[in-house]
Amino acid sequence: MFDPSTLAVPVVGAPMAGGPSTPALTAAISEAGGFGMLAGAYLSPDALRDQLAAVRALTDAPFGVNLFVPEEIPLDADAFARFRDLLLPLAHARGADLPSAPAYTDDAFETKVDVLLEEDVTAVSFTFGAPAPEVYAAFTGFDIATITTVTTAAEARVALDAGTSALCAQGFEAGGHRSTFGITDRDAQVGVRELVTAVTGLGVPVIASGGVSGVDDVRTLLAAGAAAVQVGTLFLRTPEAGTRPAHRAALADPRFTETATTRAYSGRLARALVNEYVRTFSAAAPPVYPQINALTGPLRRAAADDPEVINLWAGTGWRGARAISAADVVAALDPAR
Ligand SMILES: Cc1cc2nc3c(=O)[nH]c(=O)nc-3n(C[C@H](O)[C@H](O)[C@H](O)COP(=O)(O)O)c2cc1C
Repeated sequence: MFDPSTLAVPVVGAPMAGGPSTPALTAAISEAGGFGMLAGAYLSPDALRDQLAAVRALTDAPFGVNLFVPEEIPLDADAFARFRDLLLPLAHARGADLPSAPAYTDDAFETKVDVLLEEDVTAVSFTFGAPAPEVYAAFTGFDIATITTVTTAAEARVALDAGTSALCAQGFEAGGHRSTFGITDRDAQVGVRELVTAVTGLGVPVIASGGVSGVDDVRTLLAAGAAAVQVGTLFLRTPEAGTRPAHRAALADPRFTETATTRAYSGRLARALVNEYVRTFSAAAPPVYPQINALTGPLRRAAADDPEVINLWAGTGWRGARAISAADVVAALDPAR
C-alpha cells in the first residue's frame, strides 16, 4: 500500500477542484518524484474516468484522487434567501441570474467511489468528513491507501476509528476549502505544525498541509513528524495548472495583501485572497452548503475576469507561488537538494 514516507521527494500535489487540478499537473508532480492528486470533486463520474485515463497516458507513476464527502443537512431556506437578496444587485450588474432554489447534490460520491475501486488507483483522499467504515474497507481490500483530511485531533480520531490508512493534517493556513467535518462547525483554527504534532504517533502516516511557501516550511513539517507535505497554492501559477488567468495574475498582484477564510463563495469555509467580494459578503454568508456554491456559480462565471469578485483561493504562503514548471516547484521543495 502507498506510503508517503517512501516518496523520492516528500511532496504531495494537493487536489484542487474547480479548474486548477489537471491531468497534466497531476502527472508532472508524480513524474518529478512527488505524488500528484487529481481533484474528483465537481466532476461527473465519466469526466473523472476520462481524467484518470489522461493521467495514465502521461505517466506510469502512481498518483491519487480526492473526493468531497457529502453531508446533507436541512436547508436553512431563510438564510439562503437573505444571502441571495444581498448578492442580487451585484449579480444583476454583471448580467448573472442567481438560482432561487438550487437542489442538494451529493456530488455523485458513491458512483465516484465505485469508479475509483474499478480503476484501482493508488490512493484516495477524502475531504469534508470520514465516509462509512465500509468505504474504507472496500478500498483497503484492493490495497488502495485512504487518506482522510482532518483539521483537528478529534476529526483524526473519527477517521482512524472508521479505518483510514493515513491522515492529511490540514492547518488553518491552507488555501481553498477547510476540511472541517461538519458544514456548520466552528473552525478550530489549528495551525499546521500544531496539528501535525497532535496527530503524529497514532499509527498511520501523516501528510502535513497548509501555508507552505518554500523548502524551509517542508523541513519544519517533516521535523514535526510529517511523512510528506501536501502543497496546493505553490502550483497555481505553473503552466500545467488550469488556474484561471485572473486568479493566476492576482497571486502575483501586490494589491492583494492578505488571505482570510470565508463562507461567501460556497457556504463552507475556504481561504482566499481578500478582495472586494470577500470584504463585502463574508460577514453575512451562512453555513449553507452546497446550495450557496450553486447560488454564486453564475456570478463567478459572469465575472470570471474580475479578481475583485471571483474566488482567489490561496494559502498564507501565496507569495512563494512562482510561474515555473510543476517539476521545478517539486524540485525547489526537495529538502534533500
Ligand atoms: C485552488 C485550491 C483548490 C483546492 N481544492 C481542494 C480539493 O478539491 N480537495 C481537497 O482536499 N483540498 C483542496 N484544496 C486544499 C488543499 O488540499 C490543501 O489543503 C491546501 O492547498 C494546502 O495549503 P496551501 O494551498 O497553502 O499549500 C484546495 C486548495 C486550493 C488552493
